[in-house]
Order: sequence, then structure tokens, then C-alpha cells
Amino acid sequence: MAEGHESILRAAEALVKEKLERDSSGHDWWHIYRVVQTTKRIAAEEGADGFVCELAALLHDVVDEKLNADPAAAQRELEAWLAASGAAAAEVEHVLEIIGTMSFKGGARPPMRTLEGRVVQDADRLDAIGAVGISRVFAYSGWKGRPIHDPSVTAREQMTEAEYRAGNDTAINHFYEKLLKLKELMNTPFAKQLAEERHRFMEQYLEQFYQEWEGQR
Ligand code: ADP
Ligand code: NI
Repeated sequence: MAEGHESILRAAEALVKEKLERDSSGHDWWHIYRVVQTTKRIAAEEGADGFVCELAALLHDVVDEKLNADPAAAQRELEAWLAASGAAAAEVEHVLEIIGTMSFKGGARPPMRTLEGRVVQDADRLDAIGAVGISRVFAYSGWKGRPIHDPSVTAREQMTEAEYRAGNDTAINHFYEKLLKLKELMNTPFAKQLAEERHRFMEQYLEQFYQEWEGQR
């Protein structure tokens, strides 16, 4: 990677660390670190632009509404920072497009247009599954004050909106609601491969969990 690219990435890293230090919503620096590590690996395998991928991975959560009282201001700050970063205009546009599409709110998310976008989205989704994904579910649920498991809680699809809003949701339920579906959503072949192993690990985990729950193991 070019010298200039390397120094832009280190500056982005410092920016993100500074911003996420004050976060308690689960979007901590180590989530970014893991997404960057996985992004680099997938990008190399898939032949994607490593600089654009890594920069987008570093910055993918800085405009998140969970982190910002004013997401529009965060977006303007990000645009200004990128414009002054020394990255080429096309690279800046590309990174902004990836972040914008990834954090798209509302029902039908548009698919990622470029390979680099697909790579970063895969890495972000991979961080929600496997051993790390399991840890994050329980951390998030605890933060929300929700129970680990309640055998009488039905799947999200069978809950009424009122039950769901009342917080009648458990950590275990989130596996069915989201985590076990992520494997099918991987964009790139290499990420799919990584997802397979993480998926199997979660299935194994759930099997053992239910057995222990009933004292069968
Ligand atoms: P992202 O990092 O893609 O924005 P989220 O903010 O939705 O993801 O979630 C952050 C982490 O918290 C993920 O690992 C996710 O599985 C977990 N999480 C999100 N919603 C729930 C929930 N209702 N119950 C348990 N864990 C959750
Ligand atoms: Ni993320």
C-alpha cells in the first residue's frame, strides 16, 4: 500500500478511537478492530481495493444514529474529514457510498453496488456471528436488561408488536430473529466460507445450551 494511504488509514484509526471511546452502545473500538481485520482478509481473497475497504471499515459506524445525537452533523463532519484527508476524490466518494448504503435505514436495504462495499458489509455481519457474535448478543441483552432465555418466549415472528415492545425478548431469541439468518446474506464466496464455520459453532452452542438448561448434560 502507498505511503500516503498508510498515513490516511492511521489518521482514520485515531479519529475513530477518539470518537468511540465515549460509546457504551456496543459499537466499541474493538468491534471496528475486528471488522477491519476481517475486511483485510476478505479483500485480499476477493481481490478488492484494500485501501478503500479498510478506510470504509474503519469509518463505517461513525455516523451511526446510535452514536450520534445529531447524525446529520456527524455525516457533515465525516465528509469534511475525508475531503481533507488526502484521499483521491473518487476514493472519498466510494467510501461515503459504502458507509451510506451500509447504514441505510428502512425496510429494503439497497444491495451494495461495489465489491468493496460487499466486502465491508460481509465483515460487519461476520462480527455478529460465531463466538464473538454470541458474546455480543449477551452483552447487548444485558445492557438492555433482558433475560438470557425464557422457554415460554415465542419466536419474534409469533410475538405481538406490544409484547415485543414491552421487551419480551431474550438473548436466545435473537439468534433466531437475526444471527442464524446472516449466513445466507453473505455477499462474497470467501465470507460465506467463514460464515459457515461460525454458523455451525452457533448451532452447536444452542444445542448444548438447551441440554444444559434441562440438566441433560
Ligand atoms: P450493527 O453493528 O450492524 O449496527 P446492531 O447495532 O444491530 O448491529 O447490533 C450490535 C450488536 O448487538 C450485534 O452483535 C447484535 O447481534 C446485537 N443485538 C442487536 N439487537 C439485539 C437484540 N435485540 N438482542 C440481542 N442482541 C442484539
Ligand atoms: Ni458495525
